[in-house]
Amino acid sequence: MPGGHGMGPAEALTVQAVLTQISYLAAAALFVFSLKWLSSPATARRGVIAGETGMILAIIGTLLMPEIEAFHWILLTFFIGAAIGIPIAVLMPMTAVPQRTALSHSFGGLAVGLVGTAKYYLWIAEEPHRLTHFVMGVLAFETILGYLTFTGSLMAFGKLQGWLPSRPILYRGQNVVNFVLLGIAIAAGIYLNFHPTEALLFPVLIVLSLAFGTLLIIPIGGADMPTVISLLNSYAGLSASAMGFVLDNKLLIIAGALDGSSGFILSVIMCRAMNRSFTNVLFGAFGAVSEKQIGAKEERTVRSAQPDEAASILAAAQSVVIVPGYGMAVAQAQHKVRELYDQLTRRGVEVTFGIHPVAGRMPGHMNVLLAEADIPYDRLKEMEDVNSELPHTDVALVIGANDVTNPAARTDKSSPIYGMPIIDVDRARTVMVIKRSMSAGFAGIDNELYYMDKTLMLFGDAKAFVGDMVKAISSEGH
Ligand code: TAP
Repeated sequence: MPGGHGMGPAEALTVQAVLTQISYLAAAALFVFSLKWLSSPATARRGVIAGETGMILAIIGTLLMPEIEAFHWILLTFFIGAAIGIPIAVLMPMTAVPQRTALSHSFGGLAVGLVGTAKYYLWIAEEPHRLTHFVMGVLAFETILGYLTFTGSLMAFGKLQGWLPSRPILYRGQNVVNFVLLGIAIAAGIYLNFHPTEALLFPVLIVLSLAFGTLLIIPIGGADMPTVISLLNSYAGLSASAMGFVLDNKLLIIAGALDGSSGFILSVIMCRAMNRSFTNVLFGAFGAVSEKQIGAKEERTVRSAQPDEAASILAAAQSVVIVPGYGMAVAQAQHKVRELYDQLTRRGVEVTFGIHPVAGRMPGHMNVLLAEADIPYDRLKEMEDVNSELPHTDVALVIGANDVTNPAARTDKSSPIYGMPIIDVDRARTVMVIKRSMSAGFAGIDNELYYMDKTLMLFGDAKAFVGDMVKAISSEGH
């Protein structure tokens, strides 16, 4: 392009710069719309496309920057990134999305940390005057946040993937050690702010940030990992935004701020849905409490039923609320659930779905699966709405959900999940629960629901059991 169509090189550069700004502006607007559209299942697909288009425009805009002198390194990194990213996107199952997200954040954090490091050493060597108080302060901030997000997210990935123990690992004085490390890293950053040429301090800051990220995640149990991941998401966003100030890149500032604030809002929503505070998630060692509860389990009897009996009860009901959970995702039962929904609605049964905000293992997990099976959005009810309907509901059918239906959260002050809002399936006239065994859910605790007189346990894999019920109902109809 430079020099083309009779333009002088300087003019061509200006055109490139303008094109960059235009694509950045369009990308920023698309990111904002993307977040807006992603907040409803009906517009989520549009939100994904807007986000992807925005990212493509951002990349094109960056590649048009006149400062770029050669493309071979960029191309090489592009292919390396694609070689890692494509298999991850194609091969990792839906149930592994939380750890996949953690891995993406770790790459984001590493990129921010590396760019910060490169800029620091480049400027120290060639243009030390650029390291003003402001730039040095922001650079130290983004580098600390970038590297701690890198190791913290890798730890979160390891715990969720089962490569590291998901139990909280605790030792005396743990929080003190962590905060001393972070304190020293911040102190090094502040010192550098006043004496930027003390280049030996920079590696200290890097090592401490890497160590802090690792140690911060060690005491957090697997059950809290999704919340921590969205918190790390907000750190990655904040650090990218800080990097935008360092590089004087406005799109990075906007995109980072959007990422940082949406990640933070999501963590707050998840904490509320579990009735936990941030400090409790970060320092409460939740899984450790649950382990003790498992020991207190005793042998008790439950009522169970076969698919044909359960099918007759459903077919005879006027209203059914289906409450899906993690087990539906594991079994990939959503398409069979759709068939069940079709069969029942055809017979005039009023079927709705009760969606708990933390059912499954990631925000919106159930919405995504049910949307995949084309279950109409207007049949999905949020927790508060469905709870007001449950006392007048004939059958609550729980499919692979456990913790989010545990009445102990409402009634038992000693329960680790006490105070967590739940879907009150125990208030329906009849409760049926599909799961494979009496095993606990993610919180590792027993569920009183299973021992109630009105509860029927339907033991089996969710997909197989729902499939058998569908067969039973359709053969009854002929
Ligand atoms: P859980 O309480 O984890 O229970 C899932 C149940 O599914 C298990 O009890 C399991 O019992 C059953 N199951 C597993 N595989 C199955 C299969 N193939 N067929 C049938 N059943 C199967 O799930 P939930 O009720 O959805 O609650 C989510 C938990 O994750 C909560 O504790 C929540 O706080 C936590 N959490 C979620 C999030 C987000 S964002 N979703 C974030 C942080 C924490 P069997 O082994 O007996 O089959």
